[in-house]
Amino acid sequence: MKILVVGSGGREHALAWKLAQSERVQTIFVAPGNGGTASDARLKNIAISDPAALADFAEQEHIALTVVGPEVPLAAGIVNIFRARGLKIFGPSKEAAQLESSKDFAKSFMQRHHIPTAEYQTFSDLQAAHAYIDAKGAPIVIKADGLAAGKGVVVAMDLHEAHAAVDMMLSDNKLGDAGARVVIEEFLAGEEASFIVMVDGKNILPLATSQDHKRLLDQDAGPNTGGMGAYSPAPIVTPQLHARVMREIIVPTVQGMAKDGIIFTGFLYAGLMIDDQGNPKTLEFNCRMGDPETQPIMARLKTDLVQVMEHAVNGTLDSVELEWDRRTAMGVVMAAAGYPDAPRKGDVISGIPPETADSVTFHAGTSLNDKTLLSSGGRVLCVVGLGDTVKLAQKHAYDVVEKIHFDGAQYRRDIGWRALNRKH
Ligand SMILES: Nc1ncnc2c1ncn2[C@@H]1O[C@H](COP(=O)(O)OP(=O)(O)O)[C@@H](O)[C@H]1O
Ligand SMILES: [Mg+2]
Repeated sequence: MKILVVGSGGREHALAWKLAQSERVQTIFVAPGNGGTASDARLKNIAISDPAALADFAEQEHIALTVVGPEVPLAAGIVNIFRARGLKIFGPSKEAAQLESSKDFAKSFMQRHHIPTAEYQTFSDLQAAHAYIDAKGAPIVIKADGLAAGKGVVVAMDLHEAHAAVDMMLSDNKLGDAGARVVIEEFLAGEEASFIVMVDGKNILPLATSQDHKRLLDQDAGPNTGGMGAYSPAPIVTPQLHARVMREIIVPTVQGMAKDGIIFTGFLYAGLMIDDQGNPKTLEFNCRMGDPETQPIMARLKTDLVQVMEHAVNGTLDSVELEWDRRTAMGVVMAAAGYPDAPRKGDVISGIPPETADSVTFHAGTSLNDKTLLSSGGRVLCVVGLGDTVKLAQKHAYDVVEKIHFDGAQYRRDIGWRALNRKH
């Protein structure tokens, strides 16, 4: 069968790589893909990004199944377009994707359905927003309502920063329409974890747990990024906490959407903040897999992903039991010079070793020009190492990172530090 993966990042490379391991797959098209998907003989890049044009392509090529990686096409309604034409696709409808595409939608949804989350209010009026900040005090969190590619959240540690964030969004319109409304919410202290499940409209299938590293620099210093590394499993999510998150957050979300008349299908990702008592609250929802969480999660998945996806689009996820590699997988992102503000493009990448039993390198911002691999985006590669211990997984990842070269490469040297500390 033929499969279409929509997107061009490390997440999509990892999904396509995993789907390609199925014996039933003939070709996997990646739209538009990257230098890594271009280099893999089992994958084929296609330069189409418009959802309707992708549906035309899926029809012509008799694509059996489409999997969507990023949020932008989901929020634009790619799933609605495919379904209206009878094409099988895994992802949320445009309506369901509002859980991610509007933070105000997600917050009022959570409040209505008693799903634990930070206290908040939404504003489009500048003066009212400033007054709310003064009334609540700092630290406080300012979030653009709409999709802002990871640039829409300011965790303000003082009032000055909080007021400036509101001005930036509501008055200077720096984020355009995405920042025309802001959610202002209570600051939550704790440790974050990523909790991702697959939903077929009714049944919920949890994936392995993971934890991302948002800050650019070691020890969680520097600016926020799309994510500088991730590992799976996340030991903070104990079996007890897992059960609690399912009971208090995931199940009420899927059921609450249905009650509100919106059937949720697709990956559902709850970004959690877990306080020092072990109580989870929802920071946000994403309606897709995380990047870079997907890379270590796919590296650990043993079950045939094609089969899982078929059950997902057919509403039979209750018959699937996922099998995971018991090892830890650790993904280290190598980013371009200047990332995240102004990533440089066009650096020559060399030294990526072939995949082994305990390491694999996924591409993100790369392109293949003739035989030369060039950087073409902020996050360039995600190197995943696998090992029986967190430490060994880390060693296997960094052994590969050190073999790879491109000018100005930035990467953290401490990915996995929370898991390492916990085990000591
Ligand atoms: N209420 C909060 N308290 C403390 N930190 C927060 C809060 N909300 C978000 N953050 C921090 O900001 C990051 C980004 O916020 P998030 O809601 O996930 O938005 P997005 O991923 O869309 O940028 C989170 O990963 C977390 O580190
Ligand atoms: Mg987030």
